[in-house]
Amino acid sequence: MRVLVLGGDGYLGWPTALHLSDAGHEVAVLDNFARRQYDHEMGVQSLVPIEPLQVRLDAWAEVSGKRLPSYVGDLCDAEFVNATLREFEPDSIVHFAEQRSAPYSMIDRKHAVYTQQNNVVGTLNLLFAIAEINPDIHLVKLGTMGEYGTPNIDIEEGWLEVEHNGRKDRMLYPKKPGSFYHLSKVHDSHNMEFSCRIWGLRATDLNQGVVYGQETPQTARDPRLATRFDYDAIFGTVLNRFVIQSVLGHPLTVYGAGGQTRGMIDIRDTAECIRLAVENPAERGEFRVFNQITEWMSVAEIAKTVANLSPRPVEVENLTNPRVEEVSHYYNVVHTGLPALGLEPHLLSDTLIQSLFGIAEEYASRVDLAAMRPTVQWRSTASKMRS
Ligand SMILES: NC(=O)c1ccc[n+]([C@@H]2O[C@H](COP(=O)([O-])OP(=O)(O)OC[C@H]3O[C@@H](n4cnc5c(N)ncnc54)[C@H](O)[C@@H]3O)[C@@H](O)[C@H]2O)c1
Repeated sequence: MRVLVLGGDGYLGWPTALHLSDAGHEVAVLDNFARRQYDHEMGVQSLVPIEPLQVRLDAWAEVSGKRLPSYVGDLCDAEFVNATLREFEPDSIVHFAEQRSAPYSMIDRKHAVYTQQNNVVGTLNLLFAIAEINPDIHLVKLGTMGEYGTPNIDIEEGWLEVEHNGRKDRMLYPKKPGSFYHLSKVHDSHNMEFSCRIWGLRATDLNQGVVYGQETPQTARDPRLATRFDYDAIFGTVLNRFVIQSVLGHPLTVYGAGGQTRGMIDIRDTAECIRLAVENPAERGEFRVFNQITEWMSVAEIAKTVANLSPRPVEVENLTNPRVEEVSHYYNVVHTGLPALGLEPHLLSDTLIQSLFGIAEEYASRVDLAAMRPTVQWRSTASKMRS
């Protein structure tokens, strides 16, 4: 199949593009390098150095014999999106290309507006381009488990059978997202469902959990193919941050008591889930939702697991939670769709955590300690507007 990977220079988009290429698909990548700009803006960098996109593409051509075409531009530029779809003629589009940090979206009005504009307008441009150019294209879009929040009932796979006053209907599962970033994903989900229902497009929305890990079989083939490894309080995901704190012998910073439970997934499984979704497309008119997680743990449990294996003795430091969220709650998620397509998960293992320790040890001198302390307070996004 011809697969266009949007956000193909990012943490997940790059290794997924290589995984799809290795699986025999004709892959192209698109990116506007916004993620590299956020690093400059925030004064942070990936722990593992990453090469410019063209160097990465040259390295993949050397090791695999396949040269992936690249399209550099912004999804918010509709003409660029249309021209790319007309030129590459994809069968499937995998859409990772959004601003994906909750804290970044909560810095202030400017960052909230940027996040929603970038994410919602980019996805809308894409839906219009697909409808106009080839409605048969299957859109595989990265959503997040954070769209659901933490409701006090089981989380179904996207849809909920509702009985009300003696009548029944199948409704989109009600969402209680926790940041302007998560809200942007909810808006995307609604726009996609509408486009499938009204225009007969086909889409798979992958509500993905927190990703951990840094290496896939493809990126391991050459150091120039490495993907990002973020640990800072804005872009770092929780397990990756705990790994680095352990290697440095620093306290693992848990927000509040750490009772927040989150769905998680190994980076290798992310890439495999995308392959499965691409190779088993949704039907025309279908808005299909999968919960892309393989297990869930509370933040306190993640900290304990990492601390028990840590190469240096570490303590847990409970910080005042900068976010506004349920600190202890019910969490039970249906996630049968992807295993039904053949996903065999890599569950969080001691071996994986130890391999991450190795990566963190290698690049420990690049760590900026200050970047790990949370600076964005959920409640002050609004108070900044009042001042
Ligand atoms: N990393 C996680 O733990 C996680 C968890 C759940 C969901 N997701 C979702 O998966 C997707 C990828 O996440 P990631 O961690 O790889 O993020 P990332 O920021 O590393 O990658 C996103 C890429 O998209 C590009 N991009 C952003 N806006 C763009 C635009 N308007 N036009 C073109 N390119 C644009 C960025 O430059 C970046 O390279 C995101 O949509 C994110 O919400 C990630």
